[in-house]
Amino acid sequence: MSKVTLSTLRRYKEEKKKFGTITAYDAAFAHLFDECGVPALLVGDSLGMVMQGRESTVGVTIDDVVYHTGCVARAVTGALVIADMPFMTYDTPEVACRNAARLMQAGASVVKIEGGVWLIPVIERLLQNGVPVCAHIGLTPQFVNVFGGYKIQGRSESQAQQMVETALKLQDAGASLLVIECVPAPLAEEVANRLDIPVIGIGAGNKTDGQILVMHDAFGITPGHTPKFARNFLKETGDFHKAVELYLAEVANGNFPNESQSFF
Ligand code: KIV
Repeated sequence: MSKVTLSTLRRYKEEKKKFGTITAYDAAFAHLFDECGVPALLVGDSLGMVMQGRESTVGVTIDDVVYHTGCVARAVTGALVIADMPFMTYDTPEVACRNAARLMQAGASVVKIEGGVWLIPVIERLLQNGVPVCAHIGLTPQFVNVFGGYKIQGRSESQAQQMVETALKLQDAGASLLVIECVPAPLAEEVANRLDIPVIGIGAGNKTDGQILVMHDAFGITPGHTPKFARNFLKETGDFHKAVELYLAEVANGNFPNESQSFF
């Protein structure tokens, strides 16, 4: 696969070509996803749950994500590597730059940060220093203790309106990508339609520009609770490569996620 960049993902959006992305934490799966042509891999702080057995992402450290980013980045030739900045590693622009440098030097090409308009100075400073940012809104798992659990966000009219405005402001600040998690499908569709940057959904219906899945949710091996938006592509195909190819095809043709895997 030729090298995927942010321009590739922007072109996919312009061409209305829906794309699937997936999390990766190690070299073996990163290599397999790359071989299958997955355009972008996220070294998610979900590693706290699926690799470390934690109950949330709050305990994940920058050292953890640096380590897994290196494992993934060394194994891919084409996929864009996005690395999550963990809990409290981007609370000021200075702290964010120091930690983002470590992720970029480990092989990431983009960093992802969770939150709202208070991230604007962080996004601006990262960009000024050569670090592209993927913003993450909706159900942002690092805020689980503030939300009081993993709850669907943006259900009321005012919350939905505020989320659209937040997305526009994060884009204006310089975010290159946006992840939107666990919101009603029509809200995610509106965000994707209003933004010029690619919007990648998870638990957000099938009208976003791209999808992201935690790899364990795609293979039916999630430790603990399996989310409603998961689909076991491995069970359907019996083979890792075929499972990933089916995932990519089902995202591209709009069949994944379907209505029962979405929130309204
Ligand atoms: O950490 C992660 O895997 C994520 C995805 C669920 C988007 O943030």
